[in-house]
Amino acid sequence: MKFKAVKGTRDFYPDVMRLRNYIVDAWRRVSLRNGFEEYDAPIFEYLDLFTIKSGDEIAEQLFHFTDRGGRRLAIRPEITPSLARMVAAKINTLPRPIKWFSVPRLCRAENPQKGRLREFFQWNVDIIGVDGIQADVECIFTAVDFLREVKLTADDACVRIGCRPLTVASLEMAGMPEDKIEAALALLDKRPKVTAEVFIKLATAAGLDEKQLAAACALQDCKSIKEIQELMDGRENIAGILDDLRELMKRLEQMGIGDYCQLDMSIVRGLAYYTGVVYEVFDRKQSLRAVAGGGRYDKLLEIVGGPAASATGFGMGDVVLGILLDEKGKLPEDVLAGMLDFFVIDGEDGTFEKVLEVVAALRTRGYAADYSFKRQNIGKQMREANRRGARLAMIIKKEQQGDQPEEFTASLKNLLTGEQRDGISITDFLNQPTLIP
Ligand code: HAM
Repeated sequence: MKFKAVKGTRDFYPDVMRLRNYIVDAWRRVSLRNGFEEYDAPIFEYLDLFTIKSGDEIAEQLFHFTDRGGRRLAIRPEITPSLARMVAAKINTLPRPIKWFSVPRLCRAENPQKGRLREFFQWNVDIIGVDGIQADVECIFTAVDFLREVKLTADDACVRIGCRPLTVASLEMAGMPEDKIEAALALLDKRPKVTAEVFIKLATAAGLDEKQLAAACALQDCKSIKEIQELMDGRENIAGILDDLRELMKRLEQMGIGDYCQLDMSIVRGLAYYTGVVYEVFDRKQSLRAVAGGGRYDKLLEIVGGPAASATGFGMGDVVLGILLDEKGKLPEDVLAGMLDFFVIDGEDGTFEKVLEVVAALRTRGYAADYSFKRQNIGKQMREANRRGARLAMIIKKEQQGDQPEEFTASLKNLLTGEQRDGISITDFLNQPTLIP
């Protein structure tokens, strides 16, 4: 019997693993430099934790099972409910601020397609217990800091920022009853992803009347805060929300990331727990699915049985990100080809023992060094050095001067530039403070 990997999963062969590690290492580095601390949670939880307030879409995508004790459990499709549960359980004793990050492996029983798999990694960055927009600014800044870290410019990717309370207000203004709003938000989230005809069909099926539909779409199409203000003129309680949104955009500008950020009222998010500013990161041309998504979710801690606490954050998946980095040619050489610092070659008979000595010394000094398992000619070993992504090939030779004892020397070839130096004393070389300029 032959087995294949299950559909929507990936086998991480070393070349794929290099990309995953590159992404995860950058996520960790950027989290730490932005002041976030790492946490993790179990990979399965009680099923109800995920169905309680994440919305129908994610509930339909759960891998769930019943354990031998009859407990209904699910593999995590996201980590936000677990984070809310963990923080809620200890909120009074946790050191503040709660600026936490995590890189969970998640599973969703989605229909696999470009950018969406059934198993993926997702960077989560969240701040809990901080009211006010500065917490949202911090999370968005961290997302953009990462984009810059992996060399994605403002021409490559952008953060599209919406505001759920405004969408809710526009629906209320159009007379939508409170109990229908959640379904309407889930529907509006789909609008940018489907054709106009499909959207109208979905809206009619969901019971939205023409007036409600027109009101929501008019807001989604607003391009500036001024336009929103004009559209929603006279509506109570809007002024404060608009002031916050204006202030948020201003601070993003002040922190030097304005060029990455764009107001986009069509962003409402698919998950049901969001309560405030929401955003998604897309490739600039929006030809791929979202790279990241998040926003404020001030009610979730209470919903999972904790005290009221404001919360905000985002999740960024590795799948679309990997596609985008590849498409934009932003993957570093060592991720594409692997990278050794040195590949040490026995240049003539009787030098292999010296090769082993040199390799051991290089490794002890912290350099990535390797050699061929096969005793074969220099040309073949050179080819292996290139294939292994080595920066320098070190060819060991023996030199005999007069009746002096034999000396080992090396030729050092830079495989990136082709430059070569010969007759290097191995002892002198290894005694230098740094071996790679
Ligand atoms: P989400 O929008 O469901 O949000 O997922 C965030 C990101 O995870 C997406 O933009 C995408 O990059 C990635 N992602 C989601 N599903 C898949 C999939 N099936 N395959 C590959 N990548 C995927 C959340 O999960 C929220 N819990 C994020 C959050 C954290 N909100 C606040 N804090």
